[in-house]
Amino acid sequence: MVNNGSALGFTTLGQELTEVELHQRGQVPEWLEGDLLRTGPAQFEVGKASYQHWFDGLAMLYRFHFQQGRVVYSNRYLQSDAYLKAKAAGAPSSPEFATNPLPTLLQRLRLVARAGSGNNANVNTSRIGTHTVALTETPQPVAFDPASLATLDSRTLLPSLPGQVTTAHPHFDARRQCQYNYLLEFGRVSKYRLYRIDAGTTQAQLVATLDTQRPAYMHSFGMSERYLVLTEFPLVTNPLRFLLGNRPFIQNYRWEPERGTLFHVIDKDTGQIMKTARAEPFFAFHHVNAFERDGKLCVDIIAFPDPSVIDELYLEHLRSEAPTKAAGKLTRFTVDLDGDDAVVSQTLADAALELPRFDYRRRAGQPYRYVYAAGTSPKAAFMDTLIRIDLETGKETAWHEASCYPGEPVFVPRPEAQGEDDGVILSVVLDAKVGRSFLIVLDAANWSEQARLEVPHPVPFGFHGNFFKG
Ligand SMILES: [Fe+2]
Repeated sequence: MVNNGSALGFTTLGQELTEVELHQRGQVPEWLEGDLLRTGPAQFEVGKASYQHWFDGLAMLYRFHFQQGRVVYSNRYLQSDAYLKAKAAGAPSSPEFATNPLPTLLQRLRLVARAGSGNNANVNTSRIGTHTVALTETPQPVAFDPASLATLDSRTLLPSLPGQVTTAHPHFDARRQCQYNYLLEFGRVSKYRLYRIDAGTTQAQLVATLDTQRPAYMHSFGMSERYLVLTEFPLVTNPLRFLLGNRPFIQNYRWEPERGTLFHVIDKDTGQIMKTARAEPFFAFHHVNAFERDGKLCVDIIAFPDPSVIDELYLEHLRSEAPTKAAGKLTRFTVDLDGDDAVVSQTLADAALELPRFDYRRRAGQPYRYVYAAGTSPKAAFMDTLIRIDLETGKETAWHEASCYPGEPVFVPRPEAQGEDDGVILSVVLDAKVGRSFLIVLDAANWSEQARLEVPHPVPFGFHGNFFKG
């Protein structure tokens, strides 16, 4: 038996808790003050109908509130339109990544005409202006109260630019004091629009527009000090498919490896497309970091040879005992900004990885040394390790415990931190042995366990979250 209980992480969580103080083993650092705010799919059935894919489940918000060495936990379903409509109808009622309950052409036309489809914001948490928001890949951020997790009115946060698809991975530029993201507008000629939102505001400003006949599915993008990097994987769609078929979102995309993967390098300040370089075909969800060195642009990505990983994340497969075959590898793609258009690739680590993080606050867009990620051991059914990679020495350090399945490792720097591993890692771990989760606190420098906070229930596997300082 390969699956030692990870299927529990794909089970609906019915319990919502408010400000429960978590039992603690070890010692949470006193300096750790603020909130780890996460989102993730937590309800996989409505009425008699089920969602099909991990990415489809209804969003739950989670708050781990750190204060003076104590940790208080709350979790609450996001009251998005998608959630409320599903509850009212007693069935999934909004199109999701791989579930499409909408039957008619008229309804599909309405969806394409307005920005995006559902707002089941189960992918990431972020800030827009002074608002704390949950994000998904439709351009409809959902605001919530970071203390109570109550869902708030989000109408003022809709981007002023047109588009149906975006990413839940905006980049933050500390020097320019703004965030970047892109919108994809489907059309006869589709358009990627890169935009920025200045800190403290909610207004999107256009940076650059790129036309495309066959838009790609891109879950994230890259950012260096001067450039934005749009990595067009050859998983592409003809937008007409969305109108003419009744397939769920992702099933409208086709793998066309002969296209290769295109790296579009865009100047942040002028909007000029500086270069389009071509790499071998590959697929990815996550860019890690990007930086310039000696006239070259290094773009680090968790790369898969093809998009079959998407198929491995259907719930039926995840709840089975089949091992995970898809292995994402930390890969550096080097674009010669002044030279030819061929991209050179190099694998940086042996481990199969996903959900990468690093010291974003200080190293985003810059050369960096440490990557933190969740790893999948050979034959494991799901991510079962936390891995620290030293890019300078190549050393990989793993945390692992039998029947434990960790999620994204969020790095929180110590105040006055000296090095980029001077801080802690926070990760929600499902302990299948006892049927509950815990939040682990690791020392980011030596990967030792500092504390674990025991959550009274099993937290379904989520995607992303961020630490917001108190
Ligand atoms: Fe993601």
